[in-house]
Amino acid sequence: MKGSATNYGRIAQIFHWLSMLLIVGLAIGGTIMTRINNTAQQTQMYKMHVTVGLIVLALTVARVLWIFVDKRPDMPEGMKAAQKTAFSLNHLLLYVVIGLLVASGVGMLLLSGVGLSPANVTPEAIKNVTPRTVHDVVSKLFIFLFFMHLAGVIIYQVREGDTFGRMGIPWFSKAS
Ligand code: HEM
Repeated sequence: MKGSATNYGRIAQIFHWLSMLLIVGLAIGGTIMTRINNTAQQTQMYKMHVTVGLIVLALTVARVLWIFVDKRPDMPEGMKAAQKTAFSLNHLLLYVVIGLLVASGVGMLLLSGVGLSPANVTPEAIKNVTPRTVHDVVSKLFIFLFFMHLAGVIIYQVREGDTFGRMGIPWFSKAS
């Protein structure tokens, strides 16, 4: 369940892939829901977005707490200093941006008086609250950082080492 100096533990791997699926779903769903014209469908999507967003909030808290239980592995051996800096910076910014998205999402609900119940959310209800602009801008930053992260991981996997293997996906390892 716990990791080693070279690999993430099983629990950390599950947190990573589950968070990734839900957050990418939020980014795609959020982009679509704010642009559709069918009001009933749009309201349904807002409720779904907020439900998944609150699950991501709980998951992120659990994930951050888990770092204190199961230390993260060292950076891959042989990684250049510039790559290490880029890797750390990208990770840090992703955590900050996800934190800001969750905080601004919850902020929209609280400041609009909707409360933390997804059932009460409508596009109209959260129209005039400031965190909405923050959420909008930061969501674009998230999409940019996500693609940077993906590109970095794929390039490192192809050229140098087995980053996917560290995260529990063995199929791309050159040895297999
Ligand atoms: C953590 C990951 C999250 C991501 C990646 C994400 C992504 C997005 C995106 C891309 C949009 C559309 C922005 C636009 O183009 O106008 C959006 C809108 C929205 N999100 Fe999130 N979101 C996240 C978390 C949350 C949470 C935790 C909540 C609430 C608890 C939330 C509530 C909302 C609401 C109410 C809107 C509609 C805002 C509007 O009508 O302009 N989001 N989100």
